[in-house]
Amino acid sequence: MSIQTKKVLKRVTVNKILKMKGREKIVMVTAYDALFAKLFNESVDMILVGDSLNMSFLGERDTLSATVEQMIYHTRAVSRGADLPLIVFDMPFGSYTNEIDAVRNGSRVYQETDAQAVKVEGGRDRANVIEALTKNSIAVLGHIGLMPQFLRSDGGYRVRGKSEEDILTLIDDAKAIEDAGAFALVVEGVKEEAGERISEAVSIPTIGIGAGRYTDGQVLVWSDMLGIFEEFKPKFVKRYLNGAELIRGAMDRFVDDVKSERFPSREFIY
Ligand code: KIV
Repeated sequence: MSIQTKKVLKRVTVNKILKMKGREKIVMVTAYDALFAKLFNESVDMILVGDSLNMSFLGERDTLSATVEQMIYHTRAVSRGADLPLIVFDMPFGSYTNEIDAVRNGSRVYQETDAQAVKVEGGRDRANVIEALTKNSIAVLGHIGLMPQFLRSDGGYRVRGKSEEDILTLIDDAKAIEDAGAFALVVEGVKEEAGERISEAVSIPTIGIGAGRYTDGQVLVWSDMLGIFEEFKPKFVKRYLNGAELIRGAMDRFVDDVKSERFPSREFIY
């Protein structure tokens, strides 16, 4: 009898992600439930339970009304589906406005879910909050550039890093986040030069979304990349599937089969 060696796959850790900088591109995708998390489980390095779920999953106009409870609910579902990628909980708007709230809510994430890290939006102005979290042993993924939680106060989505001055501000933000102890950084919606210079300026990995080719990794929202979210398509989104079209087509065929009494046929009857 031949002895089969079974490869034991282990969950990606924060340390593994840190070590990937300069060696291997990091791939992160969002997921909001166990069903899809399971499909992504063996391919991606990280899964972000993003507050983007408030828009693509719940149909809200923006991410701002997402709550800690809602994010915990979805993170628990994702953890049940995926046991290999590093799972990151996106701290919703208003849940980390000061150090006390940040640590209280961040602790809830570790106590009530299997996420290994939390993500917070903001640059130097949020370094105190990131430091409070990391000093309390809560791993943090930063997020700078275009920050969806600042949508209303900024008056819209704005691509960053268009001037030298703004690139220097972004680099300063990135360094402040690194110094505060974050293990990695999402860089969203910036000119490619900014993405490249930020990535060179810090020793933690950068994960870009609309930040060009030179970040240490890339993240996309699953429903954007699979062509299911149709409300709008940012320029940086590559659709790997025409999901909405395929699903509508399947649903039309089901409706057609039922109406014309082709379904259920003999093979589907007890
Ligand atoms: O909420 C989210 O999905 C995100 C990504 C866009 C990085 O923050």
